[in-house]
Amino acid sequence: MRTPLIAGNWKMYTTPSEASAWMRGLLEDLQSQDVSNVELVLNVPATHLAVLAPIVADTAVALGGQDVSAHAEGAYTGELSAEMLVDAGARYCVVGHSERRQYHHEDDALVRGKVLACMNGGLVPILCVGELESERDAGEHEATVIRQLTGALDGVEISKSEDLVVAYEPVWAIGTGKTATADDAQAMGAVVRSFLKGRYGPLADGIRILYGGSMKPSNADELLAKADVDGGLIGGASLKRDQYLAIAAAAPR
Ligand code: 13P
Repeated sequence: MRTPLIAGNWKMYTTPSEASAWMRGLLEDLQSQDVSNVELVLNVPATHLAVLAPIVADTAVALGGQDVSAHAEGAYTGELSAEMLVDAGARYCVVGHSERRQYHHEDDALVRGKVLACMNGGLVPILCVGELESERDAGEHEATVIRQLTGALDGVEISKSEDLVVAYEPVWAIGTGKTATADDAQAMGAVVRSFLKGRYGPLADGIRILYGGSMKPSNADELLAKADVDGGLIGGASLKRDQYLAIAAAAPR
């Protein structure tokens, strides 16, 4: 049984001090909510990690980054290495988010470099894949996701299922209020699982596949009940504590 991963992606919202207050509030709320069946991760802006790390130490909450350099170190102004993120408190890192692909022109080869940088530096990558609306309309959603996975995982080896998380995020559902139906999310989760089986054999059974795109308390139940939806990568709703916790509560036990 895969432990559901309820991962927030805060994108470029909140300041470190706002985030500290938010996190203390979450830990208080968790005193009256049993989340032992899920893993909670918040992928926050990098400036927040070292501030939040002592607050979440020895709690059920883990932290992640939202991007990482493909390089281990060097003259790369503005970049952050996996080692820096780990030292600041991150255990996970979102890689290849569609907003990075779109606004920062990240291609599959660069995303692959970032996946490897995570693995070499001690971070678990949350590898994002997903099709544009035009690709879905053209019936190319499966081919798009398989192409992204093929490029990003070319030559990438794992020794255990926990080394990798994949998030299926249809671009047309991100921040739009449009959600893939639970059946569509499951169908694409199964496509991802089948690719991973071909690539990693039995280890694929333990790899978590998340759904992302306008996930909220009102649709989380149905999405999280699907066999190949092992959690969520949640944007807007993860900034609201009550909504984030309501999504966690919707995960199967
Ligand atoms: P929303 O939940 O705001 O649609 O964002 C999804 C997302 O991009 C998570 O990475």
